[in-house]
Amino acid sequence: MKAPVRPIALGRLSLANNLTLAPMAGYTQRAQRLLARRYGAALCWTEMISAYEVLRPGRKTKKMLLILPEDRPLGLQIFGSDEKMLADAAAAAERLGVFDAIDVNLACPVRKIIGHGNGGAMLRKPEAALGILARMRAATALPLTIKVRRGFSDSPEDRRLVEELLLGADRLGLDGVTIHGRTVEQIYHGAADWTFVYEMAARLKMAVFGSGDLMTGQQIIDRLSGGPVAGVAVARGAVGQPWIFREALALAAGSAVEPISSAERVEVMFNHFDLLRDEVGDYTAVRVMRRFGMFYSRRIGRAREARLAFGLAKSREDLAGVIKEFFM
Ligand SMILES: Cc1cc2nc3c(=O)[nH]c(=O)nc-3n(C[C@H](O)[C@H](O)[C@H](O)COP(=O)(O)O)c2cc1C
Repeated sequence: MKAPVRPIALGRLSLANNLTLAPMAGYTQRAQRLLARRYGAALCWTEMISAYEVLRPGRKTKKMLLILPEDRPLGLQIFGSDEKMLADAAAAAERLGVFDAIDVNLACPVRKIIGHGNGGAMLRKPEAALGILARMRAATALPLTIKVRRGFSDSPEDRRLVEELLLGADRLGLDGVTIHGRTVEQIYHGAADWTFVYEMAARLKMAVFGSGDLMTGQQIIDRLSGGPVAGVAVARGAVGQPWIFREALALAAGSAVEPISSAERVEVMFNHFDLLRDEVGDYTAVRVMRRFGMFYSRRIGRAREARLAFGLAKSREDLAGVIKEFFM
């Protein structure tokens, strides 16, 4: 049997291991990515960016597209439903010279996105999705991947449509797929079902990454050992605990997992804020860090009070005060 954690290839890209940080809107900024890398994630993704914005970036997107050398290998995730625009965006992204892979979001359950026929709505239109992917495949030499859910709903017809899409993408020569084991209709409710993930991993040539409910290092190892996936995409489990990758690596090496020390957690939090500040400036960094504070507060005593205090922080000094009071 293959080792659960192992080096893999994604198209022409060689990855040191098969642990990746999944794209998360509002969370996988550069700061989160650099922390994930420090603890062992071999590949990170940007949050989803519309193909339109990639081609005509506004101020916020321009910042997102500023990539540091230490933030690679990095994949760009894009969404949209216009063939030409997506193909042009893929070519434009490649020309930027800072991305190592391109992923198309065919999974997002947010109403506004689906309403425009994007994200998860594409799962019900495999023919249109494959038309887009064929043009993108021709437009870029970068590794090209997609992100899907296991169906729009639980109906057999929706499952069939996703299968059709995945088998078609495989024939087009895509390099990988991340399958989230929930349906679009589930949004984030209920447990992720990995049965479909494993079944498709056994049938597809391209690399299959599983996603859903990877909240501890042990769960990562269990899922990697449970079926023929190439790797995993860790999402919420890495928010507020980027050291989850180190835990998985330790378990894979047969070592025991030590709970993170208070001192290290505090160091990570200060680091996280400083990285955010470099990226988005003081004002936004404080607001984003409030959100992360909610997650760093998992598994500490007085978590509720810490969360309330984070919610009220207005400056770096306020954040530092909360960290000192509740985390040291
Ligand atoms: C706040 C949030 C934002 C997300 N944004 C994206 C996104 O931009 N693109 C995407 O493909 N998936 C996105 N996802 C889905 C995750 O990548 C992942 O597939 C999902 O959270 C399941 O994994 P988990 O149960 O381990 O969190 C997002 C998830 C969350 C919680």
